[in-house]
Amino acid sequence: MSLAVLILAAGEGVRMRSSLPKVAHPILGRPMLGYVLAAARSLGPERLVAVLGHGAEHVRPIVGDARVAIQQEQLGTAHAVQCASPELGGFEGTVLVLPGDTPLLTAGTLLDLLERHKTSGAKATLLTARVPDPAGYGRVLRGGPEGEVLRIVEDKDADDEERAIPEINSGVYAFDADTLFEDLGRIGRDNAQAEFYLTDIVELMRRRDALVTAVVAADHREIQGVNSREQLADATGLLQERVNRGLMETGVTIVAPRQTFIGPDVRIGPDTTVWPGTVLEGRTTIGARCRIGPNTRMTDATVGDDATIEFAVVDNAELGQGVGVGPFARIRPGTDMGDQSRAGSFVELKNTAVGRGSKVPHLSYVGDARIGDEVNVGAGSITCNYDGFEKFETVIEDGAFVGSDTMLIAPVRIGAGAVVAAGSAISQDVPPDSLAIERGDQKTIEQWAKKRRGRRGAS
Ligand code: UD1
Ligand code: CA
Repeated sequence: MSLAVLILAAGEGVRMRSSLPKVAHPILGRPMLGYVLAAARSLGPERLVAVLGHGAEHVRPIVGDARVAIQQEQLGTAHAVQCASPELGGFEGTVLVLPGDTPLLTAGTLLDLLERHKTSGAKATLLTARVPDPAGYGRVLRGGPEGEVLRIVEDKDADDEERAIPEINSGVYAFDADTLFEDLGRIGRDNAQAEFYLTDIVELMRRRDALVTAVVAADHREIQGVNSREQLADATGLLQERVNRGLMETGVTIVAPRQTFIGPDVRIGPDTTVWPGTVLEGRTTIGARCRIGPNTRMTDATVGDDATIEFAVVDNAELGQGVGVGPFARIRPGTDMGDQSRAGSFVELKNTAVGRGSKVPHLSYVGDARIGDEVNVGAGSITCNYDGFEKFETVIEDGAFVGSDTMLIAPVRIGAGAVVAAGSAISQDVPPDSLAIERGDQKTIEQWAKKRRGRRGAS
């Protein structure tokens, strides 16, 4: 049967008290809505539609190739579905409605729901859950000999007896497309929030004797919605557990899982150890047998096998096998470190290629540079790549040795096998295998220090 998925993400999320729309808030580096989209995409729907409204300019980049419907004014969840009807025009089959603020939903649960919807022949199938604290959610009212779903009452409209019901509405529903749009138009806004509630469709369908069923989620935590910062932290904790558990199952050691934050798209090879205080985000990929952390943040980085990266920040960079980074290093975008190369303590690399086996071991800034293989850049050396207007390139060829405290004033080229003497400010190219030295002659005055001590003692 054909499937359309409709994600409701137009709300502001007032309870977040944020200038960013709720569904754009990141969890482990991925926007909340991104989790719902990923679950939706894994079902392979014929159409994927997102309803956006509040702060749509922040949300649109998240939805990628999904169709977008705009809900100008947020008049409620039923109104949001109505706004998407042009995008669903002519669609026949099942419409799966998902809230944009339930990042813990899994594809497995959605598949179960769709399966039950198909086999029961119902016009609508709700996903519900029994939760320890139902406050804030819509409650599911059941009745009759079979305990059928009669209607849903929103928290703000419920009386005390209804509030005591532990079964809640998840906001996830499978509908028959034609029935959905037939009844949607009949929903009113006579309720505590003066909103068009999608939940009212249950009662309308039942009045027409259309079959409405419900599936109770096996794990109630999956349907947990995020409405506040506190719930954002709860969801973060649960997703963190889920991601970390998955990695540990594939052979990654995570020394202190609760103090380690790894995004859902991060890949890590077996026998890698991740130490506490580490944050791995985006499309970061790490090889096998690496040591990562403690206190390391990596975003969209690629790391080969057997690397050691500690107390470091790595952003949009490619690191080869056996690379060493840190402690206290910053690797900035566009950097490509070859196998067995090293960026040591208090080193910053930006848009720089470091060849195989080359070392920048201490206290250096290297930017916009092409460093060959087996190069040594001495402590405290700096590429002067910026003249206040433009950036210029430094080239250091294979096997060159740059002495400590050297300024390489770009554009400049150090030839293969050349030596630059410590303390030089180099502004002219150095030919291969030569020595360049740029510093004042040393003056030595013998016995000077001893005489000074003598003068001091006499006074
Ligand atoms: C909704 C359900 C409630 C359920 C809960 C589950 C209704 C009336 N209530 O309540 O029964 O227990 O979800 O989490 O549906 N949205 C729009 N446009 C709007 C209003 C909302 O797109 O005009 C979107 C929001 O961005 C959000 C989702 O719909 O992603 C749910 O809206 P929210 O306001 O969070 O509904 P709840 O009060 O949580
Ligand atoms: Ca909600």
